[in-house]
Amino acid sequence: MPDHDPAKRAVALRKELQHHAHLYYTLDAPQIPDAEYDKLFQELQAIEAAHPDLVTPDSPTQRVIGAVLEGLAPVRHAVPMLSIHTETDTTPAGAEKFDARVRKALALADDAPPLAYHAELKFDGLAINLRYERGELVQAATRGDGETGEDVTHTVRMIATVPKRLRGAAALAAAVIDVRGEVFMRRDDFEALNERQRKLIEGGAKGEKTFVNPRNAAAGVVRQLDAGKAAKRPLSFFAYALGEVVGWDVPGTQHALAAAFRRMGLPVNDDSRVEHGAEGLIRFHREIAAKRDALPFDIDGVVYKLDDRAQQEQLGFKSREPRWAVAHKYPAQEQTTRLVDIDVQVGRTGKLTPVAKLQPVFVGGTTVSNATLHNQDEIDRKDVRIGDTVIVRRAGDVIPEVVGSIIEKRPPDAQPFDLYQRLGGKCPVCGSEITREEGEVDWRCSGGLFCPAQRKQAILHFAGRRAMDVEGLGDKLVDQLVDAGIVRTLPELYKLGVANLAALERMADKSAQNLVDGLEKSKQTTLARFLYALGIRHVGETTAKDLARHFGQLDRVLGASEPQLLEVSDVGPIVAHSIHTFFAQPHNREIVEQLRACGITWKEDDGTADNAPKPLLGQTFVLTGTLPTLSRDEAKDRIEAAGGKVSGSVSKKTSVVVAGAEAGSKLDKATELGITVIDEAALLALLPEPPAVPT
Ligand code: IVH
Repeated sequence: MPDHDPAKRAVALRKELQHHAHLYYTLDAPQIPDAEYDKLFQELQAIEAAHPDLVTPDSPTQRVIGAVLEGLAPVRHAVPMLSIHTETDTTPAGAEKFDARVRKALALADDAPPLAYHAELKFDGLAINLRYERGELVQAATRGDGETGEDVTHTVRMIATVPKRLRGAAALAAAVIDVRGEVFMRRDDFEALNERQRKLIEGGAKGEKTFVNPRNAAAGVVRQLDAGKAAKRPLSFFAYALGEVVGWDVPGTQHALAAAFRRMGLPVNDDSRVEHGAEGLIRFHREIAAKRDALPFDIDGVVYKLDDRAQQEQLGFKSREPRWAVAHKYPAQEQTTRLVDIDVQVGRTGKLTPVAKLQPVFVGGTTVSNATLHNQDEIDRKDVRIGDTVIVRRAGDVIPEVVGSIIEKRPPDAQPFDLYQRLGGKCPVCGSEITREEGEVDWRCSGGLFCPAQRKQAILHFAGRRAMDVEGLGDKLVDQLVDAGIVRTLPELYKLGVANLAALERMADKSAQNLVDGLEKSKQTTLARFLYALGIRHVGETTAKDLARHFGQLDRVLGASEPQLLEVSDVGPIVAHSIHTFFAQPHNREIVEQLRACGITWKEDDGTADNAPKPLLGQTFVLTGTLPTLSRDEAKDRIEAAGGKVSGSVSKKTSVVVAGAEAGSKLDKATELGITVIDEAALLALLPEPPAVPT
């Protein structure tokens, strides 16, 4: 219970804030989300505002916290690195308040024209000062406490996009240009890094850890003492401000500064722009909010800066924060809440997923009461226990997950969770034994299609858009069909009639007819779709297409030995074994035969498998943005039919990026890596005529 005596509470808050600041800044291992820290900080600010006599010089509200880590040399900033005032009102009113404050401070009349602001993203990384002398990068330093930071030149030099030498005569002539900006880690780079770290830990490597979020990973990498290690952990950088400048004419506006940075070869984010008045700022805040989750990196808000430097100077600073800039936050994507219990869900392939039951919490724009815990290993690694206060993350469309526990808040009766023990070794849905294969992290229900949970999901997968594409069959209906015992096997779907469907609760004749029509229509398909629809473990869409192309006929796939399966491009031993085992089960054969007997057909190849021309063999494509005529699926199908591969992300292995309207970060990455970028017209020119039957 918080103390009601403001003096005592202020002391407690300061102690707590200092502790968390140490964990965050010095150890890069925060135990509470930023939003929680902000809450405590604001509570202290409010107490100090109401009782100015309680303010102490060492209060976290009075100085920039942070400390120099042993091992990195201290660097005194020629011009202190400041912070910006944070507007925590995440509604448009936040922008209005700032604009009103600035107009008042400039003593503008009510009818004076709207002010020009430079609106930028607030990158969630760490602030860095890059010191350029005569255009050469001579030093990179962290912010530290604002006065003194740490020398991180060795790691920052490893960042590919940070120029070692600036471009342009003016920059090369300047005695000093301190460029300030944010070092951060892209989300895809973060995932890849954590994946590598997990493998190292599994392999028994000592002293390795995974990171809770990209910001902490970036901070960890920048302050890494071993530059070689840092080089393997890709960081990114955006420039946004200046420190000391000697011998260079500083541009008169923030937007001209951004342009000058670009000309010097410094990376500047493309989303920043000039906006006018509160109205313009609100528009920017809203637009960026809409694309926040699609950005390749984390942001926690936007920053508004008065564009004109003369006006900035007129406003000056208030307690170490510029009056001419503000950070306007977005709702946090991480929150803390209590883990009430852990449930276990059964997936399509029998995979048992532990799911956290949470005290409902508002995070990432919605109320979350369930979040995935992935598997037992993750629970153990994160040391999450029932009763713990946990950090929940929900970003965009990604399913919410439990990031970790706050150990300090652990109640004495918190219960460790052991999936096997909890379930008594039995599937919670069908009671079959649960198993975990050597080297696997997941426990599975061994019930197969006997298990209603697996059956439901197998049916949904079978009917899915990229599988048999049965229109009118959603999850509610599948629940009903399976629970009522009407559909037990896939072929039974095709025996459904309007009469027995219409008898179901909430089922109108029309929807019954729609489903029957949808089922009928789905019978005309392709071998690849059919193979994918069967839901064989490790056989995704691409493998299904490879199999169809290689064997041409279903019977050849059914009869293939493991060595023969291994001849298919990209089929390795695990996949080959899985396919072979699947078709070796008499009940699976039976299902396949029954489905064929229901009238499911496709055009079988005459024996030479796929003999269409393969001009794109060996090339990997990435699609980004909206193409003028082809849908994503069509473009993917056409490229694959021509022998090419389609991947979701740009890497050094990408051959060509096909970009349409509003192409985003993938295009940036392609440009960065020097990969060929083409438009739809150029893609069509590479493709042979489309086949008469869909592939
Ligand atoms: S400008 C005098 N611009 O936010 C203003 N800061 O509390 C100097 N940040 O430490 C900062 N994106 O790490 C500025 N576009 C942006 C930013 C930004 C992120 C961070 C930076 C700074 C903190 C301010």
